[in-house]
Amino acid sequence: MGLFAVAIQSETFSSNPMPVPLSPVDSQVQLEALKSELRRVQSLAALGELTSTATHEFNNILMTILNYARLGIRNRDDASRDKALTKILEASERAAKITQTILAQARNRSESLAPTDLGAIIQDAMMLLEREMRKYRVVIEMDLNPDTPPALASGNQIQRVLLNLLINARQAMPDGGTIQVRLNSSTDKKYVEMVVRDSGKGIPRDQLPKIFNAFYSTKSGPDESGKGGTGLGLAACKEIIDAHQGKIRVESTVGRGTAFVLRIPTAQDTTVAA
Ligand SMILES: Nc1ncnc2c1ncn2[C@@H]1O[C@H](COP(=O)(O)OP(=O)(O)O)[C@@H](O)[C@H]1O
Ligand SMILES: [Mg+2]
Repeated sequence: MGLFAVAIQSETFSSNPMPVPLSPVDSQVQLEALKSELRRVQSLAALGELTSTATHEFNNILMTILNYARLGIRNRDDASRDKALTKILEASERAAKITQTILAQARNRSESLAPTDLGAIIQDAMMLLEREMRKYRVVIEMDLNPDTPPALASGNQIQRVLLNLLINARQAMPDGGTIQVRLNSSTDKKYVEMVVRDSGKGIPRDQLPKIFNAFYSTKSGPDESGKGGTGLGLAACKEIIDAHQGKIRVESTVGRGTAFVLRIPTAQDTTVAA
């Protein structure tokens, strides 16, 4: 069956005349179609990573709920039951929050930009990755300036950017390390600035220009948590930040670490300018 298919294919190939060059209009149409296909693949890859994270988290939450439910059944006094129910409530609330995040990303309410508190987006991303980071011995240091103005952004999309940057950072530190996340406004208050810095292996200078290319990856495939290796993460990050009329840049020193710096216009500034 396989052979047959190959034979037919090579037949088609050999009898094929020289390809007719596409007109500029046709190739533009094709290019646009391929770009939108790529965007779809990128968001599916991101959703896959998110689902894998969430499944692990859910499992953990379920264990908490099971254990406290057992404890509550075994110990009939009020204090034990109160404690068990409180823990069950907290765990369930966390589970509900995770479901909301995934549903929001799956719906991909993409282009709508609205004043968004990036501090809250960072906290949500951390809630999702907290346990995973602990497992890989990664310490998170957060420095979120509470006076940072809202950014004109799609919360879902910025969360996708952030999750990819954090997972890349974690993967650059196979023996653990530190990730610093900072949020501030630029001195002129026109931009909200977010920095994700790791103490990982760094990126060699000759690789730096390639890292934002789609399908560029130095990983052999997804790691055991199902993440990375598609080379689609940073390409998606760049596209998302461009759509926000923002900027993303990278600073890296081999052996010392890497920092991704994002700038996204503040909501007020854009409203005034419009
Ligand atoms: N924080 C980082 N430290 C070191 N290398 C990085 C970091 N972030 C990205 N890279 C490099 O950029 C490449 C592309 O990243 P990305 O587009 O997210 O794809 P993937 O994570 O699937 O490999 C990675 O394979 C890695 O070589
Ligand atoms: Mg990645």
